[in-house]
Amino acid sequence: MKLRTLIFFLVVCFLTSGIAAAQTSVTIDATKKGEPVSPYIYGQFIEHLGRCVYGGIWAEMLEDRKFYYSVNSKESPWKCLADGKSADVIMDKDAAFVGEHTPKLNIFENKPVRTFYQDGLAVEKNREYVGYAWLKCTAGVERITVDIMDPREAQLQKRSLNEKDFVVLPSNPGDYYKAEFKFRAEKSLDGARLEFRFFGEGAIYIGTVSLMPADNVHGMRADTLELLKQLDSPVYRWPGGNFVSGYDWNDGIGDRDRRPPRKNPAWKGVEHNDFGLDEFMLFCKLLKTEPYIAVNTGSGKVDNALAELEYANGAADSPQGKRRVENGHAEPYRVKFWGIGNEMYGDWQIGHMPVEEYAKKNNEFVDAFRKFDPNLVLVAVGDTGKWDEVIMRKCADHMDLISEHFYVADWNINKEWTVPEHVQSVPGHIKRIADAHRKYRAEFEELKGKDIRIALDEWNYWYGPHVFGELGTRYFVKDGLGIAAGLHEYFRNSDIYYMANYAQTVNVIGCIKTSKTGAQFETTGLPLMLYRKHFGTIPLDVASPKPLDIAAALTEDGKTLTVGIVNPLAEKRTVKLDVKNAVPGKVCKRFEINGKDPMDHNDPDAPQKIDIAEMDAAYDAEKGVTVAPYSVTVLKWELK
Ligand code: AHR
Repeated sequence: MKLRTLIFFLVVCFLTSGIAAAQTSVTIDATKKGEPVSPYIYGQFIEHLGRCVYGGIWAEMLEDRKFYYSVNSKESPWKCLADGKSADVIMDKDAAFVGEHTPKLNIFENKPVRTFYQDGLAVEKNREYVGYAWLKCTAGVERITVDIMDPREAQLQKRSLNEKDFVVLPSNPGDYYKAEFKFRAEKSLDGARLEFRFFGEGAIYIGTVSLMPADNVHGMRADTLELLKQLDSPVYRWPGGNFVSGYDWNDGIGDRDRRPPRKNPAWKGVEHNDFGLDEFMLFCKLLKTEPYIAVNTGSGKVDNALAELEYANGAADSPQGKRRVENGHAEPYRVKFWGIGNEMYGDWQIGHMPVEEYAKKNNEFVDAFRKFDPNLVLVAVGDTGKWDEVIMRKCADHMDLISEHFYVADWNINKEWTVPEHVQSVPGHIKRIADAHRKYRAEFEELKGKDIRIALDEWNYWYGPHVFGELGTRYFVKDGLGIAAGLHEYFRNSDIYYMANYAQTVNVIGCIKTSKTGAQFETTGLPLMLYRKHFGTIPLDVASPKPLDIAAALTEDGKTLTVGIVNPLAEKRTVKLDVKNAVPGKVCKRFEINGKDPMDHNDPDAPQKIDIAEMDAAYDAEKGVTVAPYSVTVLKWELK
């Protein structure tokens, strides 16, 4: 028996093995259509937080490459030793190469050699790495070497992980020069050291250093990009989140090595400013996705946000457009979606203010943005309840979409929940927010005749220990089921949801997790990818029988029927589908995500455990479809 026939046979057996499983019936009427689902519900959100951008998307391997922290301080990953002891390093503030200060080392002919290094790097056997350092030396500095090594090996010659022992850099007295180097690692090691050594007599200034895998794509991680391409999200919100309320976009443009490192205004750690507006636009281009830029209405003023808009969309001869052209981007980016602020209702937000005051600030920003271009799609900050009651009235003429956020999070999750309760918490919030907006529409005079739809531009689970850096939570099969059920809820409310941005794509609370050398989908990324690729866009009315969550949709051309079934139970279930006004074929495509245990999960450094299984399956309307315990099943039929 050929493998394909065998699989088909097994799937037939599986589908018809529902005799023992409890049965549920649902009616799907192909004429009871909802409004088309906006593709933007599959949006994503990346924020400068934890290892989302740096350590997730961006390929830089070094920490603090611009020396925000003083070398040899306890916060700094850089050490400078002489004869095994901490050596003097001057953090020179006069004419710093970048930021506040630049490390300066004095070396002497008759003193021990100085080593300047960073530990904790992960290299893989036979992989190539490219790096550079901006250096300035006085006359008398004879030689500088750089090496990647295993610091545990005592013998110097054996320590090098590079096929050549050392790369010798030229040293020119005078101005800064860019010393470039590359390595091929001879063995895999998590804990490698990048080390510089200096010989001769004089002073050396180290402006900035960089090290990346040679396969980086314009500075981005090839492995992460590959998964992001599979995710195929149509829109990305950036740069925050709480981050944006203290961010100055000017810091993130121009020569990357000269952009200042800053303390992240909202989160722990350093903002290196290596990934700014131009890199975000390149990221969107590489992923063939649309940008959605949030502007700073916290510490930020309208003029600076307007300058950002002009930088992105202005003509080449406008003041900010000229800067963009100088930075190598002749054509305006034509960014359509702009977020006017983030969560300004929260006292955790930089620049938080009372709602009456903020309504004025929103309107001031929107007037300026619309004057620049009346066709932009502007998103105001919303929050159901008191905040929305003011914003929806006072800003009804000053928004195109209203942003809402929800998290099933450490602060509102019930640890005692059963799996079905955990799963239903996500659609529960999506419905709650949709219902609130339906109520505003019915009650507020200011909204009459308007159709302000929702951009749920942050939504997710957020709970449990941080295993992937700051806020780096892990997701389980039960979370994947909740995200699938959440997508079903967007389909059920397709008349009011225009956009949804899953937070925050990579690491943090994201659907892709990376280690230093690996990247993999979380369980939550799988339904996002599966539905985006295969699910229909014309939702059909289905009375979903709890605790299952069932949704159905036709493809745009009406030729294909798709049905999604989330089973949060520990046992299999048989679902009889009574399809009216359409005739599904006898064979369907079946996609399945499931786990033996609701706590099963993936890990970027282990073989993928939870994935999407795809198969051809026979369909017998009389017997129905049997779905596995803890599963998401999507069925796809060509209609006869
Ligand atoms: O997603 C993490 C944070 O959650 C975002 O920065 C903020 O907007 C929200 O409170």
